[in-house]
Amino acid sequence: MIVKSEHDLMQLLDSLLREPKEFWDSFYKEKSNDIPFFCDTPDEHLVKYVERENIRPCHVLELGCGNGRNAIYLAKQGFSVTAVDLSKEAIAWATDQAANDNVQIHFVCENIFDLDLPCQKFNFIYDSGCFHHLAPHRRISYIQLIQKHLANKGQFSISAFKENGKYGGSSLSDQQYYIDRSLHGGLGYNKEKLQAIFHEFMEIEIRDMQYEHLHENEFGLEDFIVGLFKKA
Ligand SMILES: C[S@@+](CC[C@H](N)C(=O)[O-])C[C@H]1O[C@@H](n2cnc3c(N)ncnc32)[C@H](O)[C@@H]1O
Repeated sequence: MIVKSEHDLMQLLDSLLREPKEFWDSFYKEKSNDIPFFCDTPDEHLVKYVERENIRPCHVLELGCGNGRNAIYLAKQGFSVTAVDLSKEAIAWATDQAANDNVQIHFVCENIFDLDLPCQKFNFIYDSGCFHHLAPHRRISYIQLIQKHLANKGQFSISAFKENGKYGGSSLSDQQYYIDRSLHGGLGYNKEKLQAIFHEFMEIEIRDMQYEHLHENEFGLEDFIVGLFKKA
C-alpha cells in the first residue's frame, strides 16, 4: 500500500492489529456464554442520565450496540434509536430482542468508521464498551465521527475499562500496541486520559461505574470508568 491520505494511513495501522469483525462474530455466536453484558439490563449510568433528565428523549446513535440491551432500553423510554455494530451475530441478537420487546430501532451492521449516515445529526451518542477496543490511531477517527454526527449542544457518553482493572484495561504506552501487534484485550483509561482525548468537548461528569447496590433493572461492572460530555 502507498499511503496517500489519512484514510490510507488508518487502514495501514488497522492492518497491524486483529481483524475485529471475525473476533466479534465468534464472540456473539454463543449467547449462553458467561459474559457479564450478555444480559438485557441497561447500564446504570444510562438509566441515571435518563431518570435525572440529563438526557431527554431525542435522536440517539449507539456505537457498538452488541445485543442491543441499551438501545432497547432507550427505545422503550421514547428515544429514536440508531444502533450500530460490526458483528452480524450481535445485530441479529439485538434485532430479535427488539422484535420480542416490540420496539422499533434502526440497526446498522457496519464498522463505525465506515458508517454512511449522510448529514444525520444526533442529540445523544452512546458507547458502552466499544471505545476501549479501538486502537490508538482510531481515536482520531472516533472524535471525527462524534463531531460529524453530534448536534450542537448534543451529549455523548462512553464507558471504558479502567487501567489494570478486574476485566483488563491495558496501561501500556500507545506505541507498545503496534510493537506487540495486539491491543491486549482492550485499552485502559483514567479520568485524565479521557479529559485529554475529549478536550474539545465540555465535561459533564467522569466517574467510576457503580457495581454495588444497583436496582435490579441496572447493569454495572467494577473497574469501569464512565464519562458524559457535551458539544458546545
Ligand atoms: C464489549 S462489547 C459491548 C457491547 C454493548 N455495547 C454492551 O455493552 O452490551 C463491544 C462491542 O463493540 C463492537 N465493536 C467493536 N469495534 C467496533 C467497530 N469498529 N465498529 C462497530 N462495532 C464495533 C463489538 O462488535 C461489540 O459488540
